[in-house]
Amino acid sequence: MKLKRTHLLNELRKSNSGDEVILNGFVNRRRDHGGLIFIDLRDKYGITQIVFDPEVEEKAHAIAEDVRSEWVIGVKGKVRNRPDGMVNVKMETGEIEVLVSEIEVLSKAQTTPFEIDSDDNVSEELRLKYRYLDIRREKMKNNIQLRHDMIKFIRDYMCEKGFTEVETPILIKGTPEGSREYIVPSRLYNGNFYVLPQSPQQLKQLLMVAGMDKYFQIARCFRDEDQRGDRQPEFTQLDMEMSFVDEADVMNVNQELLMKLIEEFKPEAKLLFDEPKVMTYHEAMNKYGSDKPDLRFGYEIEDVTDIFENSEFEAFASHARSERGVVKALKLAGKASEFSRKDIDELTEVAKIYKAKGLAFVKMQDGDMKSPILKFMSNGEINLLKERLDISEGDLVFFTADEFEVACESLGQVRLEVARRFELLDSNEFALCWVTNFPMFEKGNDGSLAAMHHPFTSPNLDELNLLDEAPLMVNSRAYDLVMNGNEIGGGSIRIHDQELQAKVFELLGISKEDAELRFGHMLEAFSYGVPPHGGIAWGLDRIVMLFAEEPNIREVIAFPKDSKAKDLMLGAPSKVDQTTIDESGIKVVE
Ligand code: AMO
Ligand code: AMP
Repeated sequence: MKLKRTHLLNELRKSNSGDEVILNGFVNRRRDHGGLIFIDLRDKYGITQIVFDPEVEEKAHAIAEDVRSEWVIGVKGKVRNRPDGMVNVKMETGEIEVLVSEIEVLSKAQTTPFEIDSDDNVSEELRLKYRYLDIRREKMKNNIQLRHDMIKFIRDYMCEKGFTEVETPILIKGTPEGSREYIVPSRLYNGNFYVLPQSPQQLKQLLMVAGMDKYFQIARCFRDEDQRGDRQPEFTQLDMEMSFVDEADVMNVNQELLMKLIEEFKPEAKLLFDEPKVMTYHEAMNKYGSDKPDLRFGYEIEDVTDIFENSEFEAFASHARSERGVVKALKLAGKASEFSRKDIDELTEVAKIYKAKGLAFVKMQDGDMKSPILKFMSNGEINLLKERLDISEGDLVFFTADEFEVACESLGQVRLEVARRFELLDSNEFALCWVTNFPMFEKGNDGSLAAMHHPFTSPNLDELNLLDEAPLMVNSRAYDLVMNGNEIGGGSIRIHDQELQAKVFELLGISKEDAELRFGHMLEAFSYGVPPHGGIAWGLDRIVMLFAEEPNIREVIAFPKDSKAKDLMLGAPSKVDQTTIDESGIKVVE
């Protein structure tokens, strides 16, 4: 390369007028004005206009005639002020241009599969296949830069707070954190496998046993899950763990960091509360029908179970009378006329996706209650409902009757759908909250107990007596950090008692032998002195996604997998040759 740049493409100003400079970059756009040729030359930093004049330099002009979009070139020339009327105030370098005396073509380019210099919607498949071209585009470039800037800010903050960054291994052993794991066959020990970490959970706890006191890591995690907009098979966490702490210590560090990030990167955003709200899992489910409530808008769910306990309306009464059953109501004040039969049918479908048996409703119109379920209710019940929910002219109320979780969650999803329809979700508003006191266990599909967070999470110490007789009633010391209805982080205070840890494994149906085999190292480590400890991990991709106001995390990951877990650019996963397979000691079943 002969022409090596003296300036970047965002740098030249009027004050450089008359200077001789060398520029390198991609051809963003070329305009031939039958005589003069103008090229917008682009690099990572900006765009500078260069001009070829046949009267000034015939040879360079002749080469420029062949130049096409996305060619990579070097040019030498003199900076000059643009003539009056040609100044472009929208461009950093819009006051000047460079009159070229020499050009070097560094690399030609074939026509790209989509235009780089346009915001046109291009199919995601094409964008992912040619991700290196997609990243040339302004939006992706900015997202990746934002990601870098945020991670640097986070690192600086964590270091300042006395955390030490430790890299933990990627080739590890399986951990019971709930997701399906990726496995790597061992060549040296045929029949044995490494497992890729779902998270550094065990290792960071072992670092606390090791006396590291405050650890953090920008950690890559791997989970073989079904893909969604906010999930990737590999993703990045801001992972941290602290010794001698309780919930408040972990929460304080994290909310301070989050507030500082918002201050730095979203100064224009509207923070709806000065500090994250704190609510229990039960409260979040009860009021918002979600363990990650979106608090940017109201519409709280109300409980009307007691009204239906003795009702003749069996569909509701049967749930109202059963132990875990409830009847929940969601009032949309003044919205009755805005929901047609079709709208309500659509919302019913939403509720049904979340296992609701139906979505009953009443409307108050022209002074009368109107509803297909009115005929099942007594006047007394109707009056109680009116009073409890303060139903007045124009209101619409939805109901679900079911087990607590189903009734709340399905109505919570209706609540979100309504917010989307009325465009109540402003991506420039931030509503933060902590959800605490999660149940320790949930019932797995086969009826067995599963850890709601993970098996290393401590149960509430004053509920230990319930572990045996009513484990589903025991709450845990877990907390989630929620922003605008997204779970951006989750963590807990851990068990640091060998016996309690063994007990929790037992409740989870992990036999003593199995626990010894899989987590013997944890139990043994705990026998050598372990500080009380706790921590959290953020989904870093998710938080960058929210800051970038993007709809999915693929937009803030340089080389993501597609929605079917494929890398379209590299073509992974792919077959490997037979020798490799043989060496791994595995057999492929077609
Ligand atoms: P958890 O499993 O809740 O906790 O994960 C922490 C956070 O990571 C993000 N996240 C994901 N992001 C993208 N793609 C995925 N597939 C994905 N899965 C999770 C979420 C989530 O809140 N070891 C514990 C943390 C701890 O207890 O300290 C853990 O991994 O934002
Ligand atoms: P049914 O008596 O089953 O015909 O139900 C009458 C109305 O109540 C219908 O509009 C149903 O959608 C609704 N409904 C029935 N069961 C439930 C339920 N568990 N929760 C909410 N609505 C229900």
